[in-house]
Amino acid sequence: MSSMRPIIVFGDGTFASLAAYCLRHDARRTVAAFAVDRAYLHKSEHEGLPVVAFDALESAFSPVEFELIIPFGAARINGLRQERFLDAKARGYTLASYISSRACVWDGFEPGENCLVFEQAVVQPYATVGDNVLLRSGANIGHHSRVGSHAFIATGCAFGGNVTVGERAFVGVGAVLRDGIKLGERSFVGAGAVVVADTDPDGVYVGNPARKTNRSAMAVTGGDE
Ligand SMILES: CC(C)(COP(=O)(O)OP(=O)(O)OC[C@H]1O[C@@H](n2cnc3c(N)ncnc32)[C@H](O)[C@@H]1OP(=O)(O)O)[C@@H](O)C(=O)NCCC(=O)NCCS
Repeated sequence: MSSMRPIIVFGDGTFASLAAYCLRHDARRTVAAFAVDRAYLHKSEHEGLPVVAFDALESAFSPVEFELIIPFGAARINGLRQERFLDAKARGYTLASYISSRACVWDGFEPGENCLVFEQAVVQPYATVGDNVLLRSGANIGHHSRVGSHAFIATGCAFGGNVTVGERAFVGVGAVLRDGIKLGERSFVGAGAVVVADTDPDGVYVGNPARKTNRSAMAVTGGDE
């Protein structure tokens, strides 16, 4: 896990505020500023802290003195968060991770960089979580499951054991993944879906039992591919 350097939070919306709140009130971290893409730089302050352009972050908040966290949603099937993550790393920033003190994780669990594990999430023994993964409140990751980098696991999902989540996959609120299921890279599981068979890369699945729709994961997450 990270040191206790002050931290910059990417974003200035509600999800950034949520992350900042958890960092301050739970992890006891100092939040120094918020950073946004220059095209979205419409205000100079958020919660009384500076909002700065991400592409010029180094000028005021060097990677030597500050860490960064990117609590960003699933836009472009998690591609936007992946891009910002890789960019920040290339520029020398340490990406912090946050595990809620109210999450249930076991000895030896160590998520990758830029992971946020919210309250009541459960990560059972032998489960692993890659880089840049969001595990929202109450998500239950079964034993020996593997959550690939850049995935988004929404509130209240239930995984059986030995589930594999491909890179950049999205699992919607309250979805159920039968044990041993493999989600293809960038596949999208809709809210409340019950997944009983492996999913294809880039596919969108809804319902019980989950069926593949004719839309792409990129399209339903705001991308144009
Ligand atoms: C699958 C999803 C992307 C579709 O959203 P959308 O593109 O806006 O689609 P619409 O709401 O217009 O629905 C299109 C059709 O699919 C159905 N549908 C949408 N989501 C569904 C779901 N999760 N399960 C079953 N059916 C669903 C709708 O009832 C509608 O059916 P109809 O054409 O017969 O009326 C979205 O509903 C979803 O599940 N998103 C995940 C949300 C989530 O978990 N967020 C977590 C944030 S922390």
